[in-house]
Amino acid sequence: MSDHTIQSVSKESRVFEPPTDFAKKARVPTREAYDNLYRQSMEQPEEFWGEQARNLHWHKPFTKVLTWDAPHVKWFEDGKTNLAYNALDVHANGARRDKPALIWEGEPGDQRTFTYHELWRETCRFSNVLLSLGVSPGDRVAIYMGMVPEAAIAMLACARIGAVHTVIFGGFAAEAVRDRVNDAEAKLVITQDGAYRRGQLVVLKEHVDRALEHCPTVKSTIVLRRTHNPIDFKEGRDHEWSELMRNAKAEHEAPALDSEHPLYILYTSGTTGKPKGVLHTTGGYMVGTWLTTRDVFDIQDSDIYWCTADVGWVTGHSYIVYGPLLNGATALMYEGAPNHPDPSRFWQIIEKHKVTIFYTAPTAIRAFVRWGDDHVEKHDLSSLRLLGSVGEPINPEAWMWYRRVVGKDKCPIVDTWWQTETGAMMITPQPGAISTKPGSCTLPFYGVSPKIFREDGTEAGPNEGGLLVIDRPWPSMFRTVWRNEDRYLSYFEKFPGKYFTGDGARRDEDGYFWVIGRVDDVVNVAGHRLGTAEIESALVSHAAVAEAAVVARPDELTGSALVAFVTLKGNRSPSPELKIQLLDHVAQEIGKFARPAAIRFADALPKTRSGKIMRRLLKDLASGNTSQGDTTTLEDISVLAKIGTEE
Ligand code: WTA
Repeated sequence: MSDHTIQSVSKESRVFEPPTDFAKKARVPTREAYDNLYRQSMEQPEEFWGEQARNLHWHKPFTKVLTWDAPHVKWFEDGKTNLAYNALDVHANGARRDKPALIWEGEPGDQRTFTYHELWRETCRFSNVLLSLGVSPGDRVAIYMGMVPEAAIAMLACARIGAVHTVIFGGFAAEAVRDRVNDAEAKLVITQDGAYRRGQLVVLKEHVDRALEHCPTVKSTIVLRRTHNPIDFKEGRDHEWSELMRNAKAEHEAPALDSEHPLYILYTSGTTGKPKGVLHTTGGYMVGTWLTTRDVFDIQDSDIYWCTADVGWVTGHSYIVYGPLLNGATALMYEGAPNHPDPSRFWQIIEKHKVTIFYTAPTAIRAFVRWGDDHVEKHDLSSLRLLGSVGEPINPEAWMWYRRVVGKDKCPIVDTWWQTETGAMMITPQPGAISTKPGSCTLPFYGVSPKIFREDGTEAGPNEGGLLVIDRPWPSMFRTVWRNEDRYLSYFEKFPGKYFTGDGARRDEDGYFWVIGRVDDVVNVAGHRLGTAEIESALVSHAAVAEAAVVARPDELTGSALVAFVTLKGNRSPSPELKIQLLDHVAQEIGKFARPAAIRFADALPKTRSGKIMRRLLKDLASGNTSQGDTTTLEDISVLAKIGTEE
């Protein structure tokens, strides 16, 4: 077999039809309806997107839909709009005035609710605050906060006045804040005294103080009081959120902004190298997040929708803040950890708020599996009607658990593949229309043209693994990498003019996509190029295993050998017998050639703060090197030391 082909070994064959009563009421109720929409979006993309975009408010209507000068794109170029106006004013001054826009649950159990009218007023007020501090359209504003409603208000106010926000995940340390603030050349930093995380205090303002010692562009900060811990206040630079808001007018007219006006920069959680500032602009992103939220989540006015991501990641941008509000939906936002005060917290929140749509990540699902079903089962989850997953390939066993234990076999699952760069969901089921297969993100969203390429740029056949490429522009795509155009161009170099996602995937005989993870996570063992995700999936399908990460280490005989890092379910403990069982299990599930050379049990795996396993660090460990790489995105550094002593 060719050295350049990725061999896909998953044998999953279960299929689940959309439940009939779900489909009956769904926005896209049949496969035929989806097929028609998709066909139209491919055959007449400009008509399709023009028509969709006109559902939103344009201060000045566009006459031109798409300008594609590969790899540069403009959508609705001569139109003018305002994203915050579409997310708030439209609803606040209409029938949804008193509908909850945001229900917020604090980690300690406090609760706040903002109606559309209230969220609109707060955002207007904060827009005036930003203007009073001299923030102009195009200026960059860094937001370094926890999961509080004010983070959303700050984002919306930036979008409203045309300032470019860059949200920095509240779990980052001072150095990471400094690097991002400097790269974006932010003028203002919005932060909190502290945030709660798993019952602990995270001293955000202190981190900002340290970071700002080396950030010459920052002129001022705004500090929200959340945890009331003592903080230093620098006269002339630091301002109290509450004081500024008290003195600000609640009236603010949303200005007409160019469709291509920059909306935000988001630094990707890259598992390697220097973070990239992915830039999104206004009109296309607005249309993309609005339409995906509407049809993939099948959002109805009665829904209580909960996405568990952090606003510091793209999922939080697109599917906590912008997409749901553009649809006039009610979104829930939770401040804290899934296991505080105990591992049933998420289920307790679903029961309390009668959540109907729940969107989370495979890393969380695997943690729930590990913590045990009883935490889930002791809560009434009957309000749920739809489940979603994002962030990593979800292995079929975790998918089945999610369906059975959380969804009680009645909720469809939307496994949504997309990226920070894509801005919105790209390959995903539409729950009333598309049958699902555990582990597959199924079919492309409207206007998305994904292809599986071989290294030489020819298209791979059915079930032949290859590189996932998108060969047409879509409205919510990123426009550049901030101050690093070369990095942007590099996405379009491997296959000229086409967007290379960096992921490996295959398309099955039904046209379904199976993403097997980052191409960097592909291993070559004795001539077989395998996606590590599939071997991991085989390990996780063993009853004792909670989570697995597979990496390659150099091997004299075979070129490279696989090392599997494995965490076990709560009630199981490591033993030599179990190691043998696991090796046999992989041999049985995939084939002898895929058997790891070593299995190392660990209490936890090193992950980025957005929950992706950091295989690069494990690779160093497996090869016996001490890690030289960047560990600033690592969630818990002590995990590494613990694994380091295992064998
Ligand atoms: C992975 C998160 C398989 C993939 C929205 C992608 C997935 C990277 C899925 C982007 C999925 C995300 N199935 N893999 N449903 N969703 N990924 O930028 O490798 O944080 O390239 O965006 O996550 O991660 P990012």
